[in-house]
Amino acid sequence: MHLAILSGSVFGTADFLADEAAERCTAAGLQVSRINPPSVDALLDAGADAILVCCSTTGMGELPDTIVPFYSEMQTRFPLLTGVPFGVIGLGDSSYADTFCQGGEQIRELLLELQAREALPMLQLDASETVTPETDAQPWLDELIVLLKSA
Ligand SMILES: Cc1cc2nc3c(=O)[nH]c(=O)nc-3n(C[C@H](O)[C@H](O)[C@H](O)COP(=O)(O)O)c2cc1C
Repeated sequence: MHLAILSGSVFGTADFLADEAAERCTAAGLQVSRINPPSVDALLDAGADAILVCCSTTGMGELPDTIVPFYSEMQTRFPLLTGVPFGVIGLGDSSYADTFCQGGEQIRELLLELQAREALPMLQLDASETVTPETDAQPWLDELIVLLKSA
């Protein structure tokens, strides 16, 4: 199982989380391509069997600038990812209420439009509740690893 891991981040938390996830998934025996910055060509060239995206939210529910070009190019080129299992970790702050984790949600909806298959419901990490997202993400990541290994 070959997993591509991408991230979109303003202040670096999502990037760090994706790096940590790459280490954890590698240690669990997955082949991992950590793609940073996000790139459509790099994703398609990797030929991965599964995708993980860690993405924060900025503005009022907007994607971080680091992942906007990837998002736009995916929408334009529209490479179908039929049946490819994916997971999204959304980083946000619940004090933004209506736009909580909307960055991650936008990525999730994009992947669903491309016919990828959500392996596990999106994990939402709330910056107003935790300062250790990498620890909080571990149980969800371990569940994703089990699902991918049995896919
Ligand atoms: C200017 C600004 C706007 C933000 N807007 C939102 C938002 O609309 N929704 C949300 O859930 N979180 C929002 N956040 C919270 C960040 O997404 C959250 O702190 C996240 O952990 C940052 O991750 P990063 O370091 O990878 O960018 C905002 C943070 C800042 C500083």
